[in-house]
Amino acid sequence: MSRREELLAEMGLAPIWRLRTRPTAEKRAAGQWIELKQAVPACTACALHKTRAQTVLGVGDEDADWMLIGEAPGAEEDRLGEPFVGQAGKLLDSMLAAIGLKRGDNVYIANVLKCRPPGNRNPEPEEVAKCTPFLKQQIALIRPKLIIAMGRFAAQTLLASDATISSLRGRVYRYEGVPLIVTYHPAYLLRNLPDKAKAWADLVFAKKTMATL
Ligand code: URA
Repeated sequence: MSRREELLAEMGLAPIWRLRTRPTAEKRAAGQWIELKQAVPACTACALHKTRAQTVLGVGDEDADWMLIGEAPGAEEDRLGEPFVGQAGKLLDSMLAAIGLKRGDNVYIANVLKCRPPGNRNPEPEEVAKCTPFLKQQIALIRPKLIIAMGRFAAQTLLASDATISSLRGRVYRYEGVPLIVTYHPAYLLRNLPDKAKAWADLVFAKKTMATL
């Protein structure tokens, strides 16, 4: 310790040049969000960048307890840059309302893929593999209490499983330590109305699960 530092210590003061602290976890996370929000629109890791209008990172509360994950942007999402804004999104919003939740309010919505597959075809395994690190980082930054994987692609990707939705429902899994439950995709429910009752049961199960977390 230098004489100057000794004198300051005697006065109970810390030298200003020692006061520079390491960035807080909060500041680090803010920096990582900025990087992610720049990296996703600049991504050319798969061919989907050639046909997208824009990337669709996600929407909502970045400190949310609830995180819902779908498959990939559709035409409307590609146009507007927000997930679940088409017909399936309207159904998702009413499903959320049914359990007292609202898009953007303690809820974050994202997709496995950040770019629209042309003609809304299914995502290719290579596209999923290239895009999953973005989703992983989103989850790490949001640190939700509960993830709801909606549909086959989200569930199978996050659980590294090829099981069907119907066999995966009704249990709590973990993704990177975060509790995760599985339900039907809203677009599937639009085509299969009788399964809406099962999706309702899944949401009730999710709500009960959240109450225990
Ligand atoms: N389907 C999805 O999986 N995600 C969207 O954002 C829209 C439709």
